[in-house]
Amino acid sequence: MGLSGAEIFGFESDLRGDFDLNSLNPTQVELRNILKRFKERVDGVLSNGLVLLPFDPSGKSCKMIRSFDQNNPAFELTQFLKHGRDVESSLYGTEMDILHSKESISCLVDFVRTYKFIEALFLHLDRLEAILPGKIEVVDAGSGGIPVFGLLAAIKSDRTVVTCIENNPTSVISSREVIQSFGLQDRIKVINADATTYEHDKLIDLLISETMHVALLGNEPLVKILNNLCRFVSEHGVIIPEGVNVELALAREEELQRLRRVVDITGLSTYAYLDFEKIARFNPMALLPIIIHLVRLSRLENGIYRIILNSTVDLCREMGVVLGQNESVITTPVWTGNKLEISDESYPSDGVLSYVPGSSVRDVNLRLRYGGG
Ligand SMILES: C[S@@+](CC[C@H](N)C(=O)[O-])C[C@H]1O[C@@H](n2cnc3c(N)ncnc32)[C@H](O)[C@@H]1O
Repeated sequence: MGLSGAEIFGFESDLRGDFDLNSLNPTQVELRNILKRFKERVDGVLSNGLVLLPFDPSGKSCKMIRSFDQNNPAFELTQFLKHGRDVESSLYGTEMDILHSKESISCLVDFVRTYKFIEALFLHLDRLEAILPGKIEVVDAGSGGIPVFGLLAAIKSDRTVVTCIENNPTSVISSREVIQSFGLQDRIKVINADATTYEHDKLIDLLISETMHVALLGNEPLVKILNNLCRFVSEHGVIIPEGVNVELALAREEELQRLRRVVDITGLSTYAYLDFEKIARFNPMALLPIIIHLVRLSRLENGIYRIILNSTVDLCREMGVVLGQNESVITTPVWTGNKLEISDESYPSDGVLSYVPGSSVRDVNLRLRYGGG
């Protein structure tokens, strides 16, 4: 005989659906308890005003972030999610060839990343609520095992209609469970599809996707996903992230082993900026290569240098929400295989570094020119 969720766990009426007690194993019971606590935590975070929390916007290093995040309720949320991950992995089977559902959930504990994406999501939703009269069409492409952005968009504004697209069937199952536990299944649907080819049947007001790696490298799908979905973004619509800045720096070979000190080459033309909105509006289908011009190498001391790529991610330019260097695994500098020898005899005058977004770090191509002095 089926008992209602309320009878088993004391859930309130906002948790819809009845559970058959006989079909629940202890792990599932634990999962449901976790989902209940997740809701309480998210409510707590929201009522504490997530976007108003004290937060060091210039937090330059992970160390600094660790020291202040203990007092931050958003940290509570990510800690909780971390705990939920273990239960989830024991509940479901194994997956091949796709980002494991457990791993997608563990992204949430990349605390500053999660925090800033949510902050930007809220800021953009505020703006859209002010300019749009009716429903706000939200799409989260690559929503993970706990579709936190879709959930928070729905909780933040009851005018949102949310679609989560996820290609991992296990993550789709766990997402649907989480959404149901919030009673939000009428406003958030989860579609098991590949977001690089999926076609949305309405115009999108807010497209969010966190499917990236540092410097748009590492076979990441973000740019392909955006290239596909940005054609559905409405005229006033937003894309989160708004853009990615890829910067190049140099480090001496021997310093890589120790402190990995990066040579400051600020002021040189050593970055490329991908503005996703511009790509969406003017060049939707192009997979543009990232090209970084190196110029005026003459100020470097002699030695062997390695090329390091770093990226910062613009999430809401208007309000200055940027995921900065070292704030997340997706903005931790990565060094390429390219070496640069600087000596009196071998002295490049300039060069070009290029790769297609989504390439492996091994495919970063460096062409140097010599002779300019
Ligand atoms: C890094 S996780 C992020 C999860 C969640 N959005 C977050 O930020 O916490 C990326 C998710 O995108 C999914 N994904 C990757 N490529 C995809 C594709 N082409 N179509 C749909 N989902 C994809 C992965 O399965 C994974 O769940």
